[in-house]
Parts: sequence; structure tokens; C-alpha cells
Amino acid sequence: MDLYGRRITYLRLSVTDRCNLRCRYCMPLQDFTRLPSEAILTYEEIVRICQILTRLGVKKIRLTGGEPLVRQGIMDLIGRLGKIEGIGELCLTTNGVLLKKYAGGLFRAGVRHLNISLDSLRPERFAAVTGRDLFSSVWKSLETVLEMGFSPVKINSVIMKGINDDEIPALAGLTLQHPFEVRFIEFMPIGGKSTWSPEKMMSCREIKERIEEAYGALKPVARSSNAGPANVYGLEGAPGRIGFISPLSNHFCGTCNRLRLTAEGHLRLCLFSDEEINVKEALRKGMTLRELTEFFRQAVRKKPEGYRTGGRRAPSCSRGMSAIGG
Ligand code: 5AD
Ligand code: SF4
Repeated sequence: MDLYGRRITYLRLSVTDRCNLRCRYCMPLQDFTRLPSEAILTYEEIVRICQILTRLGVKKIRLTGGEPLVRQGIMDLIGRLGKIEGIGELCLTTNGVLLKKYAGGLFRAGVRHLNISLDSLRPERFAAVTGRDLFSSVWKSLETVLEMGFSPVKINSVIMKGINDDEIPALAGLTLQHPFEVRFIEFMPIGGKSTWSPEKMMSCREIKERIEEAYGALKPVARSSNAGPANVYGLEGAPGRIGFISPLSNHFCGTCNRLRLTAEGHLRLCLFSDEEINVKEALRKGMTLRELTEFFRQAVRKKPEGYRTGGRRAPSCSRGMSAIGG
């Protein structure tokens, strides 16, 4: 529990800063940091951290990146995490490129929750936004994981005005055919060299209006108690759902339940705060289990109440999204 009475039950774990795509909103200038391998946490270290945190009350762990599936031996790690007692949910955020290949192993390891980033349904545009012509690989992965019974399968779409906002109805329309939750995410200024500008940002309110123009009124879906920051709706008769994540226009710090761990082993207490706690150093100094447990207890007390933007400026941070993992 942090100082504001929030229960911290969710860890977002970035296992690598590397990626096989180059999404414009994430790593705009082609310079993924590419940490040397000795700088990132080993699998032993990650498992140790996760064991301690689950004993302290973390119930849900999400692997992110960069792209988590590009790290060597990743299925090994996922298998080991799946066996930790106390983990209720093991989830994965991926760009989907390698997902088809790993889907069987993920399912066997107990992963059911998948978030897949997809900002366009047009192969040429997908290539322009991500820098790689791999739409069909992602689409095949999506079909595969639905067939295999993963659920929920969420699609994350970052909407950028003038770039993919014309595809809002098509992306929302996926929910009429398939049981996806398509989540529209406001474009955020993450990273010192972000391509973000206020003109490219589209608020969730506007995105929702576009969907309602195309399909009629959206019906809110009842939220479960551990629902994330998305506001969820459904189209009439649709097997899928539509979610909105509005970090800029409607922030949700009051119900934040998360910690983030970067690939190099720094704990981030808030997406928009560059204050990080060096867990790797603590581990490599040889702290005992008791010392580490106390270290995490103290770390959580430093979680800020929320981000402060000082006027109308959008919140941002200097580390890039590929190093944080969303
Ligand atoms: N703004 C909003 N969402 C972003 N993501 C990556 N960069 C940004 C950004 N600048 C999203 C991706 C991915 C998730 C982990 O974070 O869509 O699905
Ligand atoms: Fe890779 Fe995800 Fe960043 Fe795209 S958003 S470049 S898939 S880490």
C-alpha cells in the first residue's frame, strides 16, 4: 500500500529495450537505446524480484518491452514466472510480429491476457507507422490467438491526427466481427525526442464521437473491480468491446495500482516521473531477502500522488516508451 492508500498489485515488467519495429510514436528517431546485455536484468534477477513483489501483494505481472518476444530465451522466463505462487495473472504486451510462433508456449505457461499493438489495418500504412512491412504477420497472430482461446485479447491503437485517425471506424468495427477489445489510446509525449505535438493528439472524446457518427451510440459496459484505466463500451450486438484510455484528457492517477520495472532494473513509480529507484544495484550489492523486501516497501512509499503538469502543458518524461514498456 502506498502513502495515498492505493494498493499496488500490478507490475509492468520491461524485459528488453529492443524491438523489431520502429513505431513513430514510440521510437521516432531510429535510435533505440540498445542497452548492452550486461546492463539488463538477468532472468534470475527478474524472477527474484517477482517473487518478492508477489509476496508483498503484487497479483498481476505484465511483460512488456521494447518487444518482449525478441529477448533470447524469453519463454524460459515466462515459464518460470508462471510457476510463482501468488501470481493471479501473467499478461503480455506485444507488437504481435512473433506472437504466432510463441502462442503455443505462452498458452502452456498460463498466459491468457494479451495486448497487441496495432494502429492500422492497411498494410502500407502499417509499414509507414512501424517502419516494417509486417502487417500480415501481426494479423495472422491475431487470428491464431483467438482460435487458441486466449482471452481477453486487446488491441492497442494509438491515434495520431492526420496519420491514422481516418481508420477509427474500421478499427472499432473489428469488434463487430471478433471478440477483441479495441482500445484507443491518446498519443502521449513520451521520451525526450518524441514526435508528439498538440496538433497530432486526438482526445478520446473526439475518437468516441467519430465512432458514434459511424455506428450510433456506444453503450457503457459494466467495469470489473480490477479494471484498468480504460473506459469500456460496446457496439450493438458486437462480440467485442471498445475501450478508451485517456492519459492526457482525463487522468486516472487516483486509482493507479502499478509499478514499472525497466529492462535495466530501475523501478519507475509513475509513468510520467523520471525519478527511478535502482533495483539492479541493490540486488547486485548482495542484499538479503529481508533487506530487499524492506527496500521494495520503502520504494512504494515514494510513489507520487499523480503527475503535475503545471498549467496546460501535457505531462511527459525523458525516457522513451521503448525503455519503459507502456
Ligand atoms: N502514446 C501513447 N501510447 C503509446 N504507446 C507507445 N508509445 C505511445 C505514445 N507515445 C503504446 C503502444 C503499446 C503500449 C505499450 O504503449 O500502443 O501498445
Ligand atoms: Fe516496438 Fe512497441 Fe515501440 Fe512499436 S510501440 S516500436 S512495437 S516497442
